[in-house]
Amino acid sequence: MNKDLILKVENLEIAFKNKNEIINIIRGIDLKVKKGQIVGIVGESGSGKSVTIKSLLNLNGSNAISSANKLQLKEVNLNSLNKKTWSQIRGKRISYIPQDPMTSLNPTRKIKKQLLDTLEKNRKDLKTKKERMKLIIETLNSFGIRNVEKVINQYPHTFSGGMKQRIVVASAVMCKPDLIVADEPTTALDTVVQASVLNLFQQIKEKYDVSIIFISHDIGVIAKLCDFIYVMYAGKILEKGNIKDIFTDPRHPYTWALLSSIPENSKSKDLYAIPGTPPDMRFLSSGCPFAKRNDYAVELDFIKEPPLFHIKNEHYAATWLLHPKAPKVKMPKITTDKIKIFKGVFK
Ligand SMILES: Nc1ncnc2c1ncn2[C@@H]1O[C@H](COP(=O)(O)OP(=O)(O)O)[C@@H](O)[C@H]1O
Ligand SMILES: [Mg+2]
Repeated sequence: MNKDLILKVENLEIAFKNKNEIINIIRGIDLKVKKGQIVGIVGESGSGKSVTIKSLLNLNGSNAISSANKLQLKEVNLNSLNKKTWSQIRGKRISYIPQDPMTSLNPTRKIKKQLLDTLEKNRKDLKTKKERMKLIIETLNSFGIRNVEKVINQYPHTFSGGMKQRIVVASAVMCKPDLIVADEPTTALDTVVQASVLNLFQQIKEKYDVSIIFISHDIGVIAKLCDFIYVMYAGKILEKGNIKDIFTDPRHPYTWALLSSIPENSKSKDLYAIPGTPPDMRFLSSGCPFAKRNDYAVELDFIKEPPLFHIKNEHYAATWLLHPKAPKVKMPKITTDKIKIFKGVFK
């Protein structure tokens, strides 16, 4: 694998077996994460974002049927791991930050004990408790946590949601993984706290040169943080590109709709909402899964699922509108208005 690449996923497919039924959820996706990159995965709820990244940690549970042509983390072929070797990857090589910090924190142990345990397991290079304590205090300090000595002697329930999430993020960073996967880590927080946790991710990126996959249903959040973006819908990637491609030259009508739904400010009243709802994965029709909700769908979109068409460099979109013989359409004004604003930002 190219040495700048941290993660390479090719043709990932995941289905779930429930009773006598098999439901295909992830339907052949590719992902790449480069060193130091923050990669965003965005899409409405139910599009398969969590299932996708849980497959990088083997966390999808026993009813999941998963396959990939390639699932490579640096030199490690994740496809070939067994139960025991997975436990050496989680935390040490890939850290997982869930939406609810209490999934990661143990309510019955003081923060200090938990962080020391985590480091003992995942940082064998730190030989003594003293070394581990030093790292804990330095990291929490650098995360803007005040009274660190006091804080670490408390139990998790004494903290606000934002503070708990800071501690979970600090714990992930201290383990020096190759990759951090954060699944909607700010979704449960209120707007002000959300902004401060996002800042923290920005800081981590600058200071630690770690690679991050950041998942959100909110493209506004993704905009603030990510270098490269995957737009996901019904278990497929509908568009991918670097942040400038996605925000100033989006090609898929689904991406147009997501961008249109970003509020201009927190007081905006008439927010655009995408009409309809995502499809039921049990009854997926043969065409583009977004066709029914898409004002710009061409006839073929209802019949045959479009491939990812190459636009330029690393920018791709899966819409028949990109076929050379497709009718030329103009995106809606609400989207061109948004793009004008983004173009100003990216100048
Ligand atoms: N263990 C499971 N068994 C069956 N279906 C599941 C399971 N986990 C997730 N799904 C289904 O997979 C789809 C994608 O879920 P998810 O990845 O959680 O979406 P997102 O994170 O994008 O909101 C949903 O339709 C969900 O119902
Ligand atoms: Mg999710």
